[in-house]
Amino acid sequence: MSIPHGIRTLGVLGAGQMGLGIAFVSSLRAKVPVLLHDRSPEQIAKGLSLMDKLLAKDVAKGRITADDAKDARGRVTVVGPEAGLQGLRDVDMVVEAVSESLPLKQSIFGSFAAELRPDAILASNTSSISITKIATAAVPKGVSPASEEGKKSAGRVVGLHFFNPVPVMKLVELISALQTTPETLDRARSFAVACGKEVTTSKDVPGFVSNALLMPFINEAIMCLEKGTATRDDIDTTLKLGMNHPMGPLQLADFIGLDTCLAIQQTLYEGTRDSKYRPSVLLERMVDAQWYGRKNGKGFYEYK
Ligand code: CAA
Repeated sequence: MSIPHGIRTLGVLGAGQMGLGIAFVSSLRAKVPVLLHDRSPEQIAKGLSLMDKLLAKDVAKGRITADDAKDARGRVTVVGPEAGLQGLRDVDMVVEAVSESLPLKQSIFGSFAAELRPDAILASNTSSISITKIATAAVPKGVSPASEEGKKSAGRVVGLHFFNPVPVMKLVELISALQTTPETLDRARSFAVACGKEVTTSKDVPGFVSNALLMPFINEAIMCLEKGTATRDDIDTTLKLGMNHPMGPLQLADFIGLDTCLAIQQTLYEGTRDSKYRPSVLLERMVDAQWYGRKNGKGFYEYK
């Protein structure tokens, strides 16, 4: 059977909350075999245990059968640290979902170019980093970015931005680098649709559409708290009950991760040089204190 995205095997790099969610929707909804790679065996174990829980819940709620769950779980194969990126060498597409650091992503995409098939699509789940910069890193060393080979290598890089929690959120934001080819964009879009997502597109600007709008909102909420305009609970309740948001902005910042919010805000501020994106001092101090939100138990709220 021909599939429009042509992805017969997907690699996912990073088994944190985003990578695991991407592996989950790809195996369950798009029914694509997934190779899940992470340097940390603990992270893989944690991710797989969450996947088992999510599948069991879907079975208990009658959304899928026990066989569907078994098949979806069976389509996920772990590629451990010893295999490294070499373990992903035959995939048709890889989605990178590691932390928001440009040097880290550049190094990973350089390795993708060296280790993976030359026609594999290379997608990044980055929330704000320039896809064009990431694509440039996928041009093999010694090859001119302006040559046919250089353009071909960078042309298969695309931004595929999922939202947390991935199994629940209906959107994927698709971002084209300057170099991305129309074929790469079409296949990445078809793949996101096969995962059950609606797709919007954004130009490659800092934060894309989603975080160029969300992060100033979250930052203003943190500044309201910093200035003593209102209490934490009153800020969140105002937005939840006054605007029907599912979470207040401080609760949402904790949910995304305060370190991630700060990294995105720094990218926005540095990328635009616009003071409206300057991160609040309180957010910087909370990250200094290593209070990262829900992921490590302490942010604006405490988590058990
Ligand atoms: N993983 C998987 N599923 C989860 C989950 C998680 N971490 N957290 C909640 N869910 C599921 C629950 O299991 C439940 O599923 P069922 O319907 O199958 O029972 C469903 O979500 C609803 O959960 P709850 O009833 O427990 O709670 P809720 O109604 O308060 O919803 C929420 C939880 C979906 C997270 C909701 O609060 C929400 O939509 N919050 C806003 C989330 C948001 O804005 N996400 C985007 C963040 S920005 C981003 O990700 C990208 C970026 O670039 C920073």
